[in-house]
Amino acid sequence: MTSTRGLEGVVATESSISSIIDDTLTYVGYDIDDLAENASFEEVVYLLWHKRLPKEDELAELKQQLSDNMALPQEILNHFKTYPIDKVHPMSALRSAVSLLGLYDDLSEDMSDEANYQKAINLQAKIATIVTAFSRVRKGLEPVEPRADLGYAANFLYMLSGKEPEDIEVEAFDKALVLHADHELNASTFTARVCVATLSDMYSGVTAAIGALKGPLHGGANEQVMKMLSEIGSEENAEAYIEEKLANKEKIMGFGHRVYRKGDPRAKHLREMSRQLTKLRGEEKWYNMSIRVEAAFTAQKPLPPNVDFYSASVYHSLGIDHDLFTPIFAVSRVSGWIAHILEQYANNRLIRPRADYVGPGMQKYVPINER
Ligand code: ACO
Repeated sequence: MTSTRGLEGVVATESSISSIIDDTLTYVGYDIDDLAENASFEEVVYLLWHKRLPKEDELAELKQQLSDNMALPQEILNHFKTYPIDKVHPMSALRSAVSLLGLYDDLSEDMSDEANYQKAINLQAKIATIVTAFSRVRKGLEPVEPRADLGYAANFLYMLSGKEPEDIEVEAFDKALVLHADHELNASTFTARVCVATLSDMYSGVTAAIGALKGPLHGGANEQVMKMLSEIGSEENAEAYIEEKLANKEKIMGFGHRVYRKGDPRAKHLREMSRQLTKLRGEEKWYNMSIRVEAAFTAQKPLPPNVDFYSASVYHSLGIDHDLFTPIFAVSRVSGWIAHILEQYANNRLIRPRADYVGPGMQKYVPINER
């Protein structure tokens, strides 16, 4: 038996949800460029879960279901207040709260299609409220109730700040959600599928996926990008900073990808959004700095920016706290995780690969007093 480090190039399942072929990303056959320009996040959620775009009444129904299910059980809000709030990363809070959500859903262990769909709605709706409510509770603020007249992206921004967001903010945030919704068999999606392939429940699958997304080699990179930009501080420091990091053999967050070679198709949308939003805020330095970091890095390494690089300055321009960047990734990606969980259930087989054993040969047990 031979192993492939990091399972590179291994095809682990069939899927009809999203594909990456020749550096083109599609959701159910629709090019991400097309969806980013034209679709709302709710349409994408419907597309991923039903494998087709919704008609008007179907979209309206989904929006209604999401807004009807956004409010959190009081137990979860109370639970936030028991966390060591100044030490807890919001991704850890999210991971714990999603797990807890399963305790307060009577359908948790019901594996029927109807129950799984209801859980899907519950998770997609409540994840936005968990992230925003936690963000407020840790600042000593009361959570803001969702508004039935606002769409998903607008509700998220409203529940976060308590103020009705501007149209341009909603548009940008909605597009960011569309761009992050699914991505073939990425690490967190694979984690979700491995978990539920044991016929474990959807809350377990999503909790496991959040744990995988949290790491800086995956979704955690967007927060690290903002940390890097803050450290660089001003545009003229970009080149020297990158040079020093590369000389020390350090990775630069937001660059490189296991699958893309020419470039991540999502990055150009986020680059343009970063340009527009930083200009609107009079904070062009974050965009200019990002451009110089990209030029300095790619001059030395042929690794283009990934989805996380420009999303950092986009979220920063929306006034979002830096440690909420990765939870926001989860708010979008849960739609993809759920689609994959449902696909796994529909045609399940336990996922159980082998390991190439490289440890010592057969040994004889030695009693403890003779070692
Ligand atoms: N900065 C510097 N060097 C890099 C980077 C980077 N961002 N990415 C890859 N490399 C180098 C590695 O050091 C390695 O060089 P070597 O062969 O001389 O040792 C080579 O490129 C291959 O890198 P691996 O880490 O083996 O590539 P892999 O396919 O396993 O990893 C990954 C892909 C994790 C995305 C990697 O490019 C990386 O760590 N990037 C930074 C973190 C990041 O942005 N993650 C988000 C990815 S997108 C997402 O998950 C949402």
